[in-house]
Amino acid sequence: MSDSAPVVWEKRADGVATVRIARPEALNALNLATRKALAEAFSALQDDPEVRCIVLIGDEKAFAAGADLKEFVEADTVEIMKRRSERYWQTVARTSQPVIAAIQGYALGGGLELAMICDIMVVGEGAQLGQPEVRVGIMPGAGGTQRLTRAVGKFHAMRLCLTGKPISGREAYEIGLASLVVPDGEVLDTALKMAAGIAKLPPLAVTTIKEAILQGENAPLETALTLERKAFHTLFATEDRREGMTAFIEKRKPDFKGR
Ligand code: CAA
Repeated sequence: MSDSAPVVWEKRADGVATVRIARPEALNALNLATRKALAEAFSALQDDPEVRCIVLIGDEKAFAAGADLKEFVEADTVEIMKRRSERYWQTVARTSQPVIAAIQGYALGGGLELAMICDIMVVGEGAQLGQPEVRVGIMPGAGGTQRLTRAVGKFHAMRLCLTGKPISGREAYEIGLASLVVPDGEVLDTALKMAAGIAKLPPLAVTTIKEAILQGENAPLETALTLERKAFHTLFATEDRREGMTAFIEKRKPDFKGR
């Protein structure tokens, strides 16, 4: 366990790790120190075979209210380029285990972009998700025009990015931006239960499914289908595949070893 603020992470006994953004005084705005701490947390967790699923959370008021505008206000183009803050998000994106974003309150700008790097989004009904960058004279710079468009299509993405107005967790679910919407008080429990369920599944199958979906998403369909088929063939080499099928036939619980 590490509790180096502004990010606190914890490994649980059930194969799940939680990573919490902890800057409540700034509604979890993502300053450079927070981005770096997030990348360090994900670096540590992605190499840990005991961690089968990660839940990324903020607090009740905010998942994250975007990039830290106080760190942006005096910056010019060269300064922003030199920060190379994309490298921190690349670390999160490279995580092989599934990552669930559990969202209560604000997920705005860079906060929503971070959530969209995750694999599953569980949102509270009253959450506020949006890309408000246009309102401060900039635009999304870490996926808000791209991952969002792939998730919800051109017309919702245009509305969100061009008006800067947030939508509720309920609407995010209805337009396909969230995997699941639940009452606000149930977000964390729901995400942790889902993560614990995933953590019990054979990890090689889990990480291979994640890889196939992410790699296939941006490839032509024929290429993506070939990639999927090859990955499917590969899983027949795992001990867990034999264990899973044998346990089903023998009507017992499987004992997956990650081999
Ligand atoms: N950056 C820095 N500080 C922020 C912040 C942000 N993005 N969002 C909130 N805060 C701070 C506020 O400055 C305030 O601090 P002080 O008390 O020291 O003044 C504290 O958090 C509480 O915020 P508010 O008083 O504003 O709370 P509210 O409930 O009245 O409003 C809000 C909440 C609607 C989210 C409002 O804070 C807001 O609009 N925040 C900015 C959201 C935004 O524009 N995000 C996008 C940033 S750009 C970006 O994200 C680009 C990118 O990554 C590429």
